[in-house]
Amino acid sequence: MGQGSGWFEEARFGMFIHWTHIANRGFELSWPLVGGVGVLPFSSEVTVDDYYMKALEFHPAKDAPREWMRLAREAGMRYAVLTTKHHDGFALWPSKYGDFNISRTSYDGDLVAEYVDAARAEGLEVGFYYSLSDWHHPDYPAFREEDKPYLKFLGRRSETWDRYLDVLFGQVRELLTNYGEISVMWFDGQWERSRDEWKAGDLAQMIRDLQPGILINDRLPGGDYKTPEQAIPAEVPDGVWETCMTMNTSWGFVPTDDRYKSSRELVHTLCETAGKGGNLLLNVSPRADGSLPAEQVSRLQDLARWMSEHGDAIHGTEPGLEPWQFYGPSTRNGNTINLFCVMRPYEGVVVRGVPIKRVRCELPFRTRATAEQELGNPDPIGEVFIEVPDVDELATVVQLEIV
Ligand code: GLC
Repeated sequence: MGQGSGWFEEARFGMFIHWTHIANRGFELSWPLVGGVGVLPFSSEVTVDDYYMKALEFHPAKDAPREWMRLAREAGMRYAVLTTKHHDGFALWPSKYGDFNISRTSYDGDLVAEYVDAARAEGLEVGFYYSLSDWHHPDYPAFREEDKPYLKFLGRRSETWDRYLDVLFGQVRELLTNYGEISVMWFDGQWERSRDEWKAGDLAQMIRDLQPGILINDRLPGGDYKTPEQAIPAEVPDGVWETCMTMNTSWGFVPTDDRYKSSRELVHTLCETAGKGGNLLLNVSPRADGSLPAEQVSRLQDLARWMSEHGDAIHGTEPGLEPWQFYGPSTRNGNTINLFCVMRPYEGVVVRGVPIKRVRCELPFRTRATAEQELGNPDPIGEVFIEVPDVDELATVVQLEIV
């Protein structure tokens, strides 16, 4: 399993899982309780009491993560990140810190342990999402009805903040002590407090002492990689990055949210992300029993079919050609350039600015260069026209080799 970020940049594709007690209400995670938020159209407001009403009735089927992790591996995903605790404060493992976790329910088990075992059984690297903010813990302080609107809550401070830090450090320590080697610690909720209030430096130090090979995302100030959310950034971020994205518009299981991206759009998003040198962390939203909605399973299966044929154009690749050289995203591994046809080719595709005597392709192709470039030049740079007779309904991939 991974040391450093090498495995992460090779992976290119992972599964995000947003799952907690609120699936039994069919609400988005956490945001409804603070009044909703515009970027999550299905996070409409409920009262705090209503939000938590059935939390302790959470009782999924045993070993639900096995199905997610199998589908993830088949879809060519190399790692997973599970919401061990979202902003609403409910921990999926029987934590000794705080009293709002799975051990308070009638469920006899540890959902984090089940997930870790399932991910390892499929050969996936294990990641934990953990919200720094906690809208349930009294020392944070807990969010109350009178704290609405949410912006007002941002200014509230508790006199027992140090006690909350004990919970935060204690829970992170549990997660990184009790489950073997963990590859990713994925923080969130950092915007509510400053780097100093989080004791971000001390927290990162503790994490790296416990798990020397771990990657920490940038939502803990000073983390290792950037995490744009819900879109591919227009400008390629510096350094290592991953964009996380929902299949519909919600992170959690919201049965009324039918605004799904098509399988094709998801494949194209993966191609664009890899073509820019980033990872895609694609979200799934299990129901309360742990099963995945049919719309999500079918998309994962479509991705699996496509990745089984074209995964080598995604995994372990670097960004390929410049935008002027090919009208679409592309990646490279060694001498091979992978061209993703995210627009349907008419007769074929053109690649520009390549050494035309040295290109090889399994498809029929012809080359051209200007007379000036050709004349007396043993290694002219020019254009390649590649015939593309058949298209893949999700995204055709053309591989070009430069010898
Ligand atoms: C966000 C949200 C959240 C979601 C997440 C995923 O900022 O607060 O609900 O879990 O980050 O990136």
